Amino acid sequence: MEVTQVLHMNGGSGETSYANNSLVQQKVICLTKGMREEAISSLYRSMLPRSLAVADLGCSSGPNTFLVISEAIKSVEKLCRELNHQSPEYQIYMNDLPGNDFNNIFKSLDSFKEKLCNEIIEAGHGIGSCFFNGVPGSFYGRIFPTKSLHFVHSSYSLMWLSKVPDGVENNKGNIYMASTSSLNVLKAYYEQYQKDFSLFLKCRAEEIVEGGRMVLTFLGRRSDDRSSEECCYIWELLAMALNDMVSKGIIKEEQMDTFNIPQYTPSPSEVKFEVQKEGSFSITSLEVTVVPWNAYDNGNAFDSECGFSKSLSNGGYNVTKCMRAVAEPLLVSHFGEAIIEEVFSRYQQILTERMSKEKTEFVNVTISMIRRA
Ligand SMILES: C[S@@+](CC[C@H](N)C(=O)[O-])C[C@H]1O[C@@H](n2cnc3c(N)ncnc32)[C@H](O)[C@@H]1O
Repeated sequence: MEVTQVLHMNGGSGETSYANNSLVQQKVICLTKGMREEAISSLYRSMLPRSLAVADLGCSSGPNTFLVISEAIKSVEKLCRELNHQSPEYQIYMNDLPGNDFNNIFKSLDSFKEKLCNEIIEAGHGIGSCFFNGVPGSFYGRIFPTKSLHFVHSSYSLMWLSKVPDGVENNKGNIYMASTSSLNVLKAYYEQYQKDFSLFLKCRAEEIVEGGRMVLTFLGRRSDDRSSEECCYIWELLAMALNDMVSKGIIKEEQMDTFNIPQYTPSPSEVKFEVQKEGSFSITSLEVTVVPWNAYDNGNAFDSECGFSKSLSNGGYNVTKCMRAVAEPLLVSHFGEAIIEEVFSRYQQILTERMSKEKTEFVNVTISMIRRA
């Protein structure tokens, strides 16, 4: 499987789209707002750039794509008023893999700009010119010119690996690291993560100006155990649905045995270790947050500044939709289109049953860094 060709979230704005099913990720973006504000404000104060280049890596398509960008621009505009400075020009770069629905982003650009201008003007501020750019390509390679970026952000994207690790052929019956995976499988996943993340850091070190900032959020884990339930359980339950279908002869065993998710959910110490080893960035903060699998937990929508106001109580249904928006293209490319409805219907039953008995949450690791001189 060529991950860069196959991996993308469900596009468009329909029922199963990422745009309509990314509340968990939105909640995570809101939880990490303080770290981004600190980073962009201190960056602006220390550099006072006339032109500010901001990149969101793995931006996908949907409301989250613009959330971080608008927040960053608002923070800088507020600061400009406080310091009595003229607004900078903004160069905004939205990056994702080529299969991402960039058209959907571009189509909503005008309404986003209008809304942002109105909000900023209502707050009594002006706004500098904004220039938007789509940047298709893998962030595990160079995607920007040398020393061209001031602020880099990425949320819920860097746990995706550049490829399924080599040497996981014996991970039979599993689709990710699991409690029943052999040690060689756990080691192969970790080594692929190390290779990918250190390459990511090396590329960004070339592209970010000295003193520039980077804030990254990974889906991760707290435990030192790589196959801990806190990061692997969500995929183990999907494997259960697929294995049921193998036992009924709907999916071939060989197909199941050759499917592995190209993801790695690191612990804070693993993230820190790679950053220190690569050496180009100094760490200003490293935090762990948690978010329930069901973004509408307790029947109440998360309704902070993110503005959710719906109330949905069927957790299994919500989580299935969220996971489907993320994993459907990978599953279709490996198993074909025909089994998809049944996979997700079985997955929903399993999720509903487990979530009624167990506390289920995603663990997030966020790191804030400065490009060293
Ligand atoms: C779960 S979405 C997160 C989107 C958005 N940042 C959010 O928080 O809602 C992960 C995104 O990362 C992108 N992605 C994964 N690997 C990537 C890579 N190597 N280069 C660029 N984007 C990548 C995926 O295509 C997907 O759109």
